[in-house]
Amino acid sequence: MYYGADYYPEHWPEERWAQDAQMMREAGFNVVRMAEFAWTRMEPREGEFNFGWLDDAIALMAEHGIESVLGTPTAAPPAWIMDAYPEAALVTEDGRVMTYGSRRNYCPSSGVYRVHSQRIVAAMAEHYADNPHVIAWQIDNEFGGRCYCADCQAGFQQWLRERYGTLDAMNAAWGTEFWSHIYTAWEQVPLPWEATRLHNPSLALNYRRFMSDTYADYQRLQIEILRELAPDQPISHNLMGFGYPNLDYFDLAADLDFVTWDNYPRFMGTPNLSNRGLAHDTMRGLKNKPFWVMEQQGGPTGNAVVNATPRPGEIPFWAWQAIAHGADGIVFFRWRTARFGAEEYWHGILDHHGIPSRRYREVKEMGEALERIGDKLDGSRVAGDVAMLLSYDSRFAFQNQPHNPHLDYPDIFQRLYRSVWERNLGTQIVSPEAELDGFELVIAPMLYVMDEEIAQRLRDYVRNGGTLVVTCRTGVTDMDNGIVDAKLPGLLAEMCGVTVEEYDSLDDGRTVALKGAGELAHAGGAGLAWADVLALEGAEVLARYDADYYAGEPAITVNRYGAGRAVYVGTVPDSDMAGALLGWLAETTGVESAIQAPAGVEVTERVSDEGRFLFLLNGTAQEQVVDLGEGGEERTRGESVSGEIKLEPLGVRVVQRA
Ligand code: GLA
Ligand code: ZN
Repeated sequence: MYYGADYYPEHWPEERWAQDAQMMREAGFNVVRMAEFAWTRMEPREGEFNFGWLDDAIALMAEHGIESVLGTPTAAPPAWIMDAYPEAALVTEDGRVMTYGSRRNYCPSSGVYRVHSQRIVAAMAEHYADNPHVIAWQIDNEFGGRCYCADCQAGFQQWLRERYGTLDAMNAAWGTEFWSHIYTAWEQVPLPWEATRLHNPSLALNYRRFMSDTYADYQRLQIEILRELAPDQPISHNLMGFGYPNLDYFDLAADLDFVTWDNYPRFMGTPNLSNRGLAHDTMRGLKNKPFWVMEQQGGPTGNAVVNATPRPGEIPFWAWQAIAHGADGIVFFRWRTARFGAEEYWHGILDHHGIPSRRYREVKEMGEALERIGDKLDGSRVAGDVAMLLSYDSRFAFQNQPHNPHLDYPDIFQRLYRSVWERNLGTQIVSPEAELDGFELVIAPMLYVMDEEIAQRLRDYVRNGGTLVVTCRTGVTDMDNGIVDAKLPGLLAEMCGVTVEEYDSLDDGRTVALKGAGELAHAGGAGLAWADVLALEGAEVLARYDADYYAGEPAITVNRYGAGRAVYVGTVPDSDMAGALLGWLAETTGVESAIQAPAGVEVTERVSDEGRFLFLLNGTAQEQVVDLGEGGEERTRGESVSGEIKLEPLGVRVVQRA
């Protein structure tokens, strides 16, 4: 297990470094991440490199038993590059060229920026390839943002040429007959600039795919250099969890050796533990293997504003939750709060003054518990027989056509995840291309963009005995984002045994009462955001609308198909209805929590050749009692436990069982 902090030696006098390293060692740290914004320090002028300070910092850390992850510094371009090459600046949706300052202000298509990036990455790789204390790389920092510059437009046109081959094929696929948008040269294809309004949905979706591909491509440029010059050091990038909407993270992760991400649970508002669980599961799911948290909140967040401070116990609790969901590394952001710069209010573990206080003591205490666990958890997988299918294509399509302000792809995903999470049914997040055999239950929220290949995989899964849940807005468009020529849910209609007769967009935020039926007769609740009025084509009713002109019509159905079942949810179920549905699904598929625990106690299980590790996390403000039954070895404290155990508020236990 790696445990440490993001460290910026360049922000502090060198005389202080040894004291920092000593305090880190005492907190049980064994890793720091450094250098990801230090380009000008490392290359003050083109081709002139200065790594001495970083060599010293790495060596000093190593003397204290602390290894280093190095970031390539390309997220924050030096002024000397951007001044000489203004064409490398990112252009915003409204056509404005980003002025210098801040960060993430470069265009990932820019040829000249790529050349500069290659040079610094190659210099770092050459310099550090053989340093045994550099254990991994982080590329850039939190890729994101979209660029609308001339280079990106040319890149998009080339990307389209490769995708469609001929203009005729593209025109046909996009329906450019509409409003006379027929393109007669690739150079005519625009970007979906803000000033254009009402874009062709095919163009809009493809631009989003292109931009996502462009970041993956820019990342690959750096990966290729590192793989060649520093082949023994694994490569990562710090992603932004489930929440970040603009990159296809499955694609971005495919080229990495391992995924890391940045977790700030108390940034603008109170922490939502179920959303945190989803974020961790998503990051694990990208490569279906353990990940790191490369930045975990270590103090109050803030830029212009200053947010609430983490409550006592929260910082270690969030870190344990990450480990419970498959993290093999926890790195706190940041070691010490900067005394200057745009983030002088984004606090680290130490405050500006650098004197240890409560947050340091909490982190140190966790370090002691982690030392007791040792490397037992490393590489173990997180148990769970439920899959949720995450489609970035569908998410991108809704960004162009959100339908109404209440129908939100991430929101419905988070709601359904929450109902699974509340029951502590382990969940794997998978892409639409994933193999589904082996899952007991698959939930695919608003799988809007679909082709026959995806549909076929879902049908096979159900035919072979799986239980699949789909929702409103499923199978609506083809891969070009044109609407299918069939009754919805299109390619899945036969399997679902229903068709959508008509739909009602609940655009003003009104809700529709729902009344359980059949096997869900006991259930009640409401539908939000959208209401499909369903015609039965063989399915049985699980809930009906209980209001509006479609009162009495089916809202949720289940259909037997082959050896399995397909559930169609024609609305966004509120927590009552989603809870009842998930309860019924858990019961009828036989998926269950590793152990029964009171509400608010999260349970996960990590499994390896070493054994089964049961995580119990009391996310409530009250003491909770959990009955372990036979029990086992509690690893954070190093004691045998069995029967009923008490968990203090924000208390965590890791029990190794046979
Ligand atoms: C992100 C970045 C960090 C830092 C923190 C705090 O996660 O990766 O560089 O800016 O946020 O704002
Ligand atoms: Zn650009």
